[in-house]
Amino acid sequence: MQEWTQLWLSYRPVKAYERADFFAEYTLEGFEAEHPVIRNALRELTLGIGSMLGVKPESAVKKTPAGGLRIRRDTSIGSEGYSLKAEGDGITLAAPDEKGVLYGIFHLLRLVSMKADIASLDVLTEPENPLRMLNHWDNLDGSIERGYSGRSFFFREGKILVNDRIRDYARLIGSIGINGVVINNVNVKGDATDLITDRYFPELQKMAEIFSGYGIRLFLSLNFASPMELGGCGTCDPLDPEVVTWWERRIRTVYKALPSLGGFLVKADSEGRPGPFTYGRNQAQGANMLADVLKPYGGLVIWRCFVYNCTQDWRDRITDRARAGYDNFCSLDGAFRDNVILQIKNGPVDFQIREPVSPLFGGMEHTNQMLEVQIAQEYTGQQIDLCYLMPMFREVLDFHTCCRDEKDTVADIISGRTFGNTNMGIAAVCNTGDDKNWTGNDLAAANLYGFGRLAWDMSLSSAEIAEEWIRQTFDLSPESERMLRDMLLRSREVYEKYTCPLGIGWMVNPLDHYGPSVDGYEYSRWGTYHRSDHLGLGVDRTDKGTGYAQQYRETNAAMYNDPHTCPEELLLFFHRVLYETRLKSGKTLIQHIYDSHFEGASEAKEMAECWEKLRLELDPEVYERVRERFRRQIRNAEEWRDQVNSYFYRKSGIPDEKGRRIY
Ligand code: GCU
Repeated sequence: MQEWTQLWLSYRPVKAYERADFFAEYTLEGFEAEHPVIRNALRELTLGIGSMLGVKPESAVKKTPAGGLRIRRDTSIGSEGYSLKAEGDGITLAAPDEKGVLYGIFHLLRLVSMKADIASLDVLTEPENPLRMLNHWDNLDGSIERGYSGRSFFFREGKILVNDRIRDYARLIGSIGINGVVINNVNVKGDATDLITDRYFPELQKMAEIFSGYGIRLFLSLNFASPMELGGCGTCDPLDPEVVTWWERRIRTVYKALPSLGGFLVKADSEGRPGPFTYGRNQAQGANMLADVLKPYGGLVIWRCFVYNCTQDWRDRITDRARAGYDNFCSLDGAFRDNVILQIKNGPVDFQIREPVSPLFGGMEHTNQMLEVQIAQEYTGQQIDLCYLMPMFREVLDFHTCCRDEKDTVADIISGRTFGNTNMGIAAVCNTGDDKNWTGNDLAAANLYGFGRLAWDMSLSSAEIAEEWIRQTFDLSPESERMLRDMLLRSREVYEKYTCPLGIGWMVNPLDHYGPSVDGYEYSRWGTYHRSDHLGLGVDRTDKGTGYAQQYRETNAAMYNDPHTCPEELLLFFHRVLYETRLKSGKTLIQHIYDSHFEGASEAKEMAECWEKLRLELDPEVYERVRERFRRQIRNAEEWRDQVNSYFYRKSGIPDEKGRRIY
């Protein structure tokens, strides 16, 4: 028995599929069958079609079949794209490059596994984002920072693992169009610093080779202090000639061993990680030094914008962590080399269930940018609680930054449509581990699948993605498919209702970040405060407060600045509001807090009941595993409900209008 599942690539038999004949033969024109990517594409075709339809696709190179699958090169299609067209008794897959062929085959397999009719198939698709990346926060000892699915499948006890699981991982993420992977944690310490030394080159070479067979480039996270930690330099000042020479030598060796390496992800000057600030240099000086060193090899520097003061005094109401990204980077617009990409978290703080979009999107015009989201559910239920994140990602992508009259959404910006930049894209902090089902909660795999699909095609709806994933993963009746889809679609809102209200964020247990602790971070150094007292709560980020709202372009700045026009779901992020203030619903703020927490907890229960209705249609192991998670979610939701409601009841002294139990 396989030690791990195949998720959406399980290729279950598809009964009575009418177009099996389309796959009996294939021809290859303009591509070499022996090219590693083509070889993998054909292997996948054989595996998938064999297992789903019981047909073995045969190569018909010498003959010219009237039907079957015709794969041919077409350089008029954009890089990595493909077209699929049903013609006569077969299908033509046209692509400009090998990756396009791979993606086209995976598309076909997806259609077959969804039992879609392909008789009138006619698609042309090119990826919207040039870079579609996963960031793993895996440590060399095998632990995973913010990992909720077991241990790392890349590392164990200081060693790199290269095995069948790595290949299956590459197949899975290749099938959804991911083309770059950072395998190690952004917090680079200890053994991980050595990833750029010969100690790890042989395994990294093997890993890079497996990845590139599925169109994926390997990237590494880098320790900015390497010249000191590895090279014995007295400094890592990016402008010091000794430091630059050290990097040049090191990177030359790295690229000699790993010529296909995509480049490096860097977390500098953040949460204790070293960076240019130590030497009085700015972020551009740090990033550009590395970019110049990497330039001859075509390497990229992906530089994170998660730079803020994490030693704030909670009494200080002027410093605002939300401002930090913009304050540290925006004035440097245009100063970065063209092989630097700034990687920006979706919100200004840290992956909360609700945050506004980072004002750096639309704030910078002459800088390559990537959006960073987190599918590892650090603050969104830790893969215990169900939280399908596509609705959140859709909101981020669809947000109008107002930086232009048109093409001004985050999706426009990161795809390069707004400012014409080419090194752009999207990255997700990954939610996988070595658990048998990859993502701890089987339903969390929808976030991995969905992220890849959305990274390719930012016009897909959350519902479409959910339907695709469900159809390929489970074997359910149409009615059950709809029920599961609806569970996924409402899950984010449910989670939001029973946790922190109206964009205020946090209120989580410190360090671990699961479960409620309203004051957990209130008197700490992390800059994440709700500022509740007996009258109200919320952070004044208007022009009369920290001024954060002014970092947005007009008309967004004005919209957020005014409590009457600020979207209500973000009200407490931008404003201090009194408990008795009426919201748009007519309810007071305090009543809204009570109601949403009672509702959220009872909706969590409803979702669990829905899952139980699916029992007979599910693999018993999957059913039980998810049921157990729902049990924990219900307890978690009740804990949140009671702690948050009791906390605000005690602060405000205002009882619940409906007289429900508050402690
Ligand atoms: C969060 C998270 C950390 C992580 C950091 C980052 O603060 O809790 O574990 O290192 O984000 O994004 O770098």
